[in-house]
Amino acid sequence: MSDPLATIREIDASNQLDAVLSLPDQLRDALWRVESAGLEPAEANGLVVCGMGGSAIGGALARAALGDGLARSMEVFRDYELPPWTSPERAILCVSYSGDTEETLACFEAADAIGARRYAATTGGALARAARAAEVPVIGLPAGLQPRHAVGYGFTVACEIAALVGAAAGIRTEIDTAAAHLESARDTLVAGAAEIAEQLSGSVPVIYGCDLTVPVAYRWKSQINENAKRHAFDHQLPELDHNEIVGWTRDAEPAPFAAVFLTDRDQHPRQRERAELTANLIEPTARSVISIETEGETRVARLLWAVLLGDLVSLYLAADGGVDPGPIEMIERVKDELGRS
Ligand code: F6R
Repeated sequence: MSDPLATIREIDASNQLDAVLSLPDQLRDALWRVESAGLEPAEANGLVVCGMGGSAIGGALARAALGDGLARSMEVFRDYELPPWTSPERAILCVSYSGDTEETLACFEAADAIGARRYAATTGGALARAARAAEVPVIGLPAGLQPRHAVGYGFTVACEIAALVGAAAGIRTEIDTAAAHLESARDTLVAGAAEIAEQLSGSVPVIYGCDLTVPVAYRWKSQINENAKRHAFDHQLPELDHNEIVGWTRDAEPAPFAAVFLTDRDQHPRQRERAELTANLIEPTARSVISIETEGETRVARLLWAVLLGDLVSLYLAADGGVDPGPIEMIERVKDELGRS
């Protein structure tokens, strides 16, 4: 029988595919790493997760997965400064895979300046050095991955720190069960991703999320950008029904856009109606419209199922365009040039 992943392997010089498929192992290893760090529970008035790109998405996904389990606020911040309302009672988790991302380092310092409790998650770099010097707990991440493909670590660490500081109920069991769910769904996910990528071929994908799937839609978009080196966009229901939907009116020329709706069984019934109605309304001007319902028992399992599906779609789209998913030259150029200035 032929290998359904062969087309990806042909162009994937640095083996991003295995990194993507290691998501279940990452979840379990991350649980172990947090436990091994021996952190003491601490009371905080909410959690702010600071990071950029592949190091921020785990926090956003964690926030969505925790859902109703959140007892206090949990924000994800992607910038040089903390939100102005950040009080010293908040806990701040700084995540940078390399440990050298300037925005995240600036937030780490800003958190010190206001006297907030800090945590760091990184493989090393300036963040690890600064954290150790200040006796801030560090959750060490394993080296050798592209930051975006360490998402299982970013997700789990954010969930665990949220629980540790009393912002949310702990979801260790759900994370463990989700890992098993992903393993048993692997072949279906691979087949589904190949099919979706085929339908998206030659188009600009626009990914629509709702509630649980809002950060997943952004993950799909970013993964298509970074792995397939293509434009992709994301938005969310119900907001898109109040602006973006009008952009689909145009019918004078063939539309380059294809829409993907990521729906979830937990979403508000009116949201489901909206997703169906919106899909029908835009269908005449879309290259294709694809609706995907997340699969799994718990929110955590369904969210991660949809993340893995999107990651695989992005690798199939890379193969479709004949590009190596690993390198992200544009991001590195920006970092290099800013570093030189
Ligand atoms: C690279 C990637 C990027 C980085 C971002 C921040 O795979 O996804 O979005 O995550 O440039 O760098 P780190 O993660 O090292 O703080």
